[in-house]
Amino acid sequence: MMIPQVARRILREFRPEGRCEILLDPYMGSGTSLVEASLCGMSSVGTDLNPLARFISKVKTTRYDAMAIEREFRNIQNGLLFYSDEAVRERDFGRISNREFWYSYDVLLRLSYLSQLIRDNSADNIDFFNLALSEVVREASYTRNGEFKRFRMDKKRIATYNPDVFKMFEEKVRRNIIGLVEYKKAVTNDDVRIYGFDSTLPIPDDAVAKESVDIVLTSPPYGDSRTTVAYGQFSRWSNEWFSFEHARNLDTLLMGGGKNVSELDTKTISSELQQIKDIDCRRYCEVVSFLNDYKASIINVADTVRTGGMVCYVVGNRNVKGVQIPLDYFTAEMFEQCGFEHVTTVVRSIPNKRMPSKTSPTNIAGKKVDTMNNEYIVVMRKLN
Ligand SMILES: C[S@@+](CC[C@H](N)C(=O)[O-])C[C@H]1O[C@@H](n2cnc3c(N)ncnc32)[C@H](O)[C@@H]1O
Repeated sequence: MMIPQVARRILREFRPEGRCEILLDPYMGSGTSLVEASLCGMSSVGTDLNPLARFISKVKTTRYDAMAIEREFRNIQNGLLFYSDEAVRERDFGRISNREFWYSYDVLLRLSYLSQLIRDNSADNIDFFNLALSEVVREASYTRNGEFKRFRMDKKRIATYNPDVFKMFEEKVRRNIIGLVEYKKAVTNDDVRIYGFDSTLPIPDDAVAKESVDIVLTSPPYGDSRTTVAYGQFSRWSNEWFSFEHARNLDTLLMGGGKNVSELDTKTISSELQQIKDIDCRRYCEVVSFLNDYKASIINVADTVRTGGMVCYVVGNRNVKGVQIPLDYFTAEMFEQCGFEHVTTVVRSIPNKRMPSKTSPTNIAGKKVDTMNNEYIVVMRKLN
C-alpha cells in the first residue's frame, strides 16, 4: 500500500498550476489515492485488474449510512450468540481450492455463518460487512501472516491454531466504522469512478478522456507478481470466497505476467539489463516482459494527462540477481519520451512494507542483498 500521509503530501506539494479537478490512479490497489482525492475535493478515476482491489476501493470511497450500519451490526452480533454447527445453511465450499489444506472445517463453517448473517441482516450495506469478512477469510486460514505468497504455517503451529473468527470480524467492523465516520466528516467530493481495465492496453475513452486528467498519483508494481509482490496469491482467499473473477490466475494477468520480451529501447537502464542478461537469461526475460508492459501503460497514461498536468509515480528499485534496477530513472525516461519534463524525484525510506527488506536474489544460500529500502517519488509535468 501507499500510505495515506504520502499521498496527501504529494497532492499538496505537486498540484498542477491551474485546474486540479481530476485524479487518475492506473494501479489503484486499495484506493489510497482515490480516498485522498475525495478528501481534497477532487474527482477521481481508478482501475485495477484485481477484483478484490476494486471491491476495497469501492467500499472505502462510499458514504454509507453509519447509523444503519451500527443497527445492522448489532443484529449480526446477536446472531453470533446463536451459532451452532446446525445453524449454518451454506456448506458447499467447492469454490475454495485446496480448502482442507488451508482451513479447518470449523473455521469454514464459522465464515459461512458470518456470510449468512450479513446476508440476512443487511441490504444496502452488505459490501461494508463483506469487506471486514474478506480480511478474516485470509487471517483465519493457515497462511503464515505477514507474507504475500501462500505459505502454510508449520504443523506445530497448525495444531494449536484456533482463530476466534467472530471476534476478528467484530474488531474489523468496529475499526471500519471509525474509518467511515472520519471519512464522511472530511470528504468534500465523492465523485469516484472505479474500473477494471488493464492499464497496459489503450484506456477506454469513455472511462478517461484524452487530455482530461490533472494529476496522476499511483504506485505501480515493481516487477511481475510471480517474483515480486504476489498480489494474486495474497488476495486469493478473498477472491475465491466471494467467487470473484480470475481468482486463480490473477498473477498471470498482472503486469509482466505475459511474455512480452521484445527488445526494449532504453538509455537509463540498458547496462543493468545487460548485466542481468549475462547472469541469467530467463530472469532477464521476466524483467523485460514487465518493463515492456510498464512502458505500454505509461504511454496510455500519458495520453490522458492535460498540458501542464502532473504525474507522480511512487516506485521501488528492486534487485534482480544482485543488480539493482533503477525504476525511477526508467519511469522518468519513458514519460520524457511521451512529452513530459522531469520535475523532481523525492527519495523516502520505507519502514513498513510487506516485502522482505533482505532476500537472496542471487539464490546463493546465506547471501543477503538489500532489495528495496527506499522508495522514489518520480514527479513529471506534461509539456505542450
Ligand atoms: C503497488 S499496488 C498499488 C497499491 C495502491 N497504491 C494502494 O495504496 O493500495 C499495484 C496494483 O497494480 C495492479 N495491477 C498490476 N497490473 C495491472 C494492470 N495491467 N492493470 C491494472 N492494474 C494492475 C495490482 O493488482 C495491484 O493492486
